[in-house]
Amino acid sequence: MSDATIAYNPFDPSQVDHHDGVLAQLREAGPVHELLPGFFYVTRAHEIVEICRKPNIFQQGRFIPLEEDTRPADELNLGETNPPQHTRVRKVLAGVLSPPKVRAMEPLVRDVCAGLVDAFADRGHADMIADLGVPLPGAVIGPITGLPPESHSQFRAYSDAYMLRADPDPERVRAAAAFVDDFDAMARECIRERVASSHRPDDVLTGLIECVDETGQALTENQILVHLTKDMVVGGTETTTHLIGNLFANLCATPGAYQRVRADRSLVAAAVEETLRIAGPVQILFRVPGEDTEIAGCPIPKDATVALGYASANRDPALFADANEFSLDRGSELRKQHFGFGYGIHLCVGAALARLEAVCALDAVLDRIPDMTFAPDWTYQRVAFFMMRGPTRVDVRF
Ligand code: HEM
Repeated sequence: MSDATIAYNPFDPSQVDHHDGVLAQLREAGPVHELLPGFFYVTRAHEIVEICRKPNIFQQGRFIPLEEDTRPADELNLGETNPPQHTRVRKVLAGVLSPPKVRAMEPLVRDVCAGLVDAFADRGHADMIADLGVPLPGAVIGPITGLPPESHSQFRAYSDAYMLRADPDPERVRAAAAFVDDFDAMARECIRERVASSHRPDDVLTGLIECVDETGQALTENQILVHLTKDMVVGGTETTTHLIGNLFANLCATPGAYQRVRADRSLVAAAVEETLRIAGPVQILFRVPGEDTEIAGCPIPKDATVALGYASANRDPALFADANEFSLDRGSELRKQHFGFGYGIHLCVGAALARLEAVCALDAVLDRIPDMTFAPDWTYQRVAFFMMRGPTRVDVRF
């Protein structure tokens, strides 16, 4: 089904942070829209769940699906692979990021958050992205990757550079690619050293080195590199930064919300889940059917690109009452209902850690800062990558 009267380009970053109105129109008009020839955007929660429940038919698409992609198969991110390869590697990351392991990290995460907040709490103003959202994920994920400590503070720059693959300016793309290549060269060195030694600490690098298939075949160095750097570093950095930025932006934008959460800490988790719903950092992801199929009666040819409109599903009135409102009263079911971490076999493997980081970040701020508002001169400027939702800065006063 296509509706030429509703113009929407999900690859145009300037449309993404203002797309809630147009997504509502598309959702109302139907569950699937062929926005470009062979490119189908799915708007409603019900159909997105159906698609995610059929990973054999709807296989993983590339993160930048319509551009030429010259990467060999062993350089694909986990979120771009399918079973059995996906199952094998996911087990490694899921082991390191399991809920019990993440629970054990709580003292460290609380400690990091307290230190970061201490550094700005007496200043009277802060940028919640630069002061908290950026340094936190690197400090938390760094030690579990196995990459050297001096590289952890570069995680954000590496993620930014990796995302610039989609930038229209060729000069910026070249500079970013050089940064990514240097970091990757350092990571390859680290992989080789670990393979050559008998040192096997409990981290992602060890898990990837020891990961074998049923025939005893180990991962290639390219695969270890991509899962270590793109899945852990990029996957765990940029997204968490924006969750934290969007969380504080929502609390400042909603009258009384900061005070209410401060007075009742049981609402901290609710604020995090509601941010994942209404302003989830990941707005869209892609699937490619391996055979001719259909979605809600709409024929979808083999090899078409199917866009999962997670942003749209997160405001689907069939699932969420007053879906455009940031509400702290949606109850504990919300965490299982929203699409902030996706759905199905590719559900974010870092979800428990991301939740912990956001909860600890908010708790640490509430501990030190009695009230918070946007800085008067702050204006919303979005990040460059179309898939992401979030501002580059969240300037606040307190
Ligand atoms: C707020 C923070 C985060 C958000 C919003 C987020 C979002 C998502 C989403 C929506 C997916 C689903 C992909 C799909 O449907 O194809 C996903 C998958 C994934 N995420 Fe996250 N993520 C976050 C944090 C993290 C962290 C902390 C890590 C690692 C340390 C991580 C690593 C991954 C990986 C490896 C996948 C692929 C999983 C698979 O294909 O099985 N993410 N994430």
